[in-house]
Amino acid sequence: MDAMERCARSGVVPVVVIENAKDAVPTAKALLSGGIDVMEITMRTGAALDSIRSVVSECPDMLVGAGTVLTLAQCKDCVAAGANFIVAPGFDPETVEWCVKNEIPVLPGCVTPTEIMAAMRLGIKTFKFFPANVYGGLKAMKALAGPFVGVQFVPTGGVNGENLNEYISAPFIRAVGGSWLCTKADISAGNFEKIAGLAKEASAIVKQYR
Ligand code: 3PG
Repeated sequence: MDAMERCARSGVVPVVVIENAKDAVPTAKALLSGGIDVMEITMRTGAALDSIRSVVSECPDMLVGAGTVLTLAQCKDCVAAGANFIVAPGFDPETVEWCVKNEIPVLPGCVTPTEIMAAMRLGIKTFKFFPANVYGGLKAMKALAGPFVGVQFVPTGGVNGENLNEYISAPFIRAVGGSWLCTKADISAGNFEKIAGLAKEASAIVKQYR
């Protein structure tokens, strides 16, 4: 099963911001115990690469993506750290081309027909759609799925336990992403049982549709 299939099976890709690398493995274990075996560790903190390294080595059941990857240099660092896939908020052709060439699954952010067409030319069929709640949400993705037959989206931005249902039930949604399962505050406070509980609730919702 490839990375995008794993994301589809999970249905939810938690967007994780880790301030202290020691919190990475407990966060991954909490998600796993709640039935979520994919996570996106964002390059928004200095702890990101160490966090990726430790989850990759200590949690073999977890598929680890690197998120908020803004440059090719960052992308290469993430892959060297063991990241299984790359997520970017926007579409950087240089990064996407390198990933495709090196067979690294990549999820670039595309919200317009022009961006989608440019990424499709490089072979991309699944797109991050961010910020989903600002760029028209489900309605916009449904409209885009018309002409772009077979493309799928991973919306993030404003997705949470309350609206997961409506997103995950749409055929053009591969998975959803979001920070609601493990907020920065909960991770820093060590609220790993709460994280496991939220993951369990989310995976129960996903199971109704997968
Ligand atoms: C992202 O990077 O995808 C978003 O920051 C996640 O958005 P959320 O915090 O609204 O879930």
